[in-house]
Amino acid sequence: MTILVTGGAGFIGSNFVLDWLADPTAEPVVNLDNLTYAGNRANLASLQGDARHSFVHGDICDRALADSLLATHRPRAIVHFAAESHVDRSIHGPGAFMKTNVDGTFTLLEAARAHWGTLAGDAKAAFRFHHVSTDEVYGSLQPGAPAFTEAHPYEPNSPYSASKAASDHLVRAWHHTYGLPVVTTNCSNNYGPYHFPEKLIPLMIVNALAGKPLPVYGDGQQIRDWLYVGDHCSGIRAVLAGGRLGETYNIGGWNEQANIDIVKIVCGLLDELRPDPAGPYARLITYVTDRPGHDRRYAIDARKIERELGWRPAETFATGIRKTVQWYLAHADWVAQVQSGAYRDWVSTNYAARA
Ligand code: NAD
Ligand code: DAU
Repeated sequence: MTILVTGGAGFIGSNFVLDWLADPTAEPVVNLDNLTYAGNRANLASLQGDARHSFVHGDICDRALADSLLATHRPRAIVHFAAESHVDRSIHGPGAFMKTNVDGTFTLLEAARAHWGTLAGDAKAAFRFHHVSTDEVYGSLQPGAPAFTEAHPYEPNSPYSASKAASDHLVRAWHHTYGLPVVTTNCSNNYGPYHFPEKLIPLMIVNALAGKPLPVYGDGQQIRDWLYVGDHCSGIRAVLAGGRLGETYNIGGWNEQANIDIVKIVCGLLDELRPDPAGPYARLITYVTDRPGHDRRYAIDARKIERELGWRPAETFATGIRKTVQWYLAHADWVAQVQSGAYRDWVSTNYAARA
């Protein structure tokens, strides 16, 4: 048996593939990724020569490719990570988000439905389409409001979250209308190794080490619920193995923090692990123009996955963020490689005009 992973060269997808194959008894992985700016084969370098990992450079919007991979490998599950994932990029260019997140998910669902229709007996009963989604589909919470449960209304506010909400609705409809055996997970903000330095935590680490400003949007009081990426991967494995068909499961870290506090924690760890003779890294914190439509607060109620599947995060924020900062300090080569010309263009597009 095999599983088909989409987007397995990105941040979470590559962590998932590495964690999955760390188990010597695990099923092989076919990894479909079209290597956008966020996809990086270097994340998978440790799998070189491992016959259990087959990398396919291709687009989830390519129906013929999806059909051929499903017919050739006959996976018992599809774990669908591939997406455009950065809110700020969705504000500058929403088109790619509609194409990959909406049309790409539709294409995969149709290919999965056709493939599932060819299965019988145990193979048909065991097949799963696991859709990896986000807490951002629920919109923004008022201070003190209860955390998002799976029953929270969908209120997406950015082109990114709207495209992910659309994909969640497609997945739901393919289950209700066609009976496709789906599960969906909605997770909070991840952090950890291989996180592309356009997102808050890795951006702060790489900018601080380069002595550059640490750009905090607005007043820095926006709240996110941070989860170590390895815990997201274990949550996905739990839902894939035991989640009820057609259900959605929230995954979160029980760890709400304001952005400015996250940035100060990162600065404090760098002060300890790589002190800068010029002074504490927090001197680089710079408040800049806010993100348009910026969601004020996310918080995940992760009791359903704990009640039904016994999943809880293994890392605390203190242990996870320390490991993460240590990983970036130990992987200067990876950081240098991802800071290509295209990365520098993005930094200029997103930050140059912010006061
Ligand atoms: P990422 O941007 O780091 O990686 C996305 C991957 O998808 C890249 O490898 C990219 O090359 C690939 N990809 C993009 N378009 C593709 C296409 N058309 N065909 C094939 N491959 C394509 O994203 P991530 O942070 O790893 O997020 C993975 C998934 O998890 C996404 O669906 C995202 O919505 C969801 N998610 C992310 C977070 C988070 O904090 N990062 C939290 C919750 C949910
Ligand atoms: O909640 C899950 C989501 O988390 C995922 O679905 C997304 O794919 C992922 O990118 C993430 O979205 P956010 O917008 O919350 O993540 P980001 O790292 O871009 O920003 C985190 C917070 O930090 C947010 O409030 C914006 C703020 N921020 C971000 C950047 C890049 C800054 O203040 N300065 C910055 O330079």
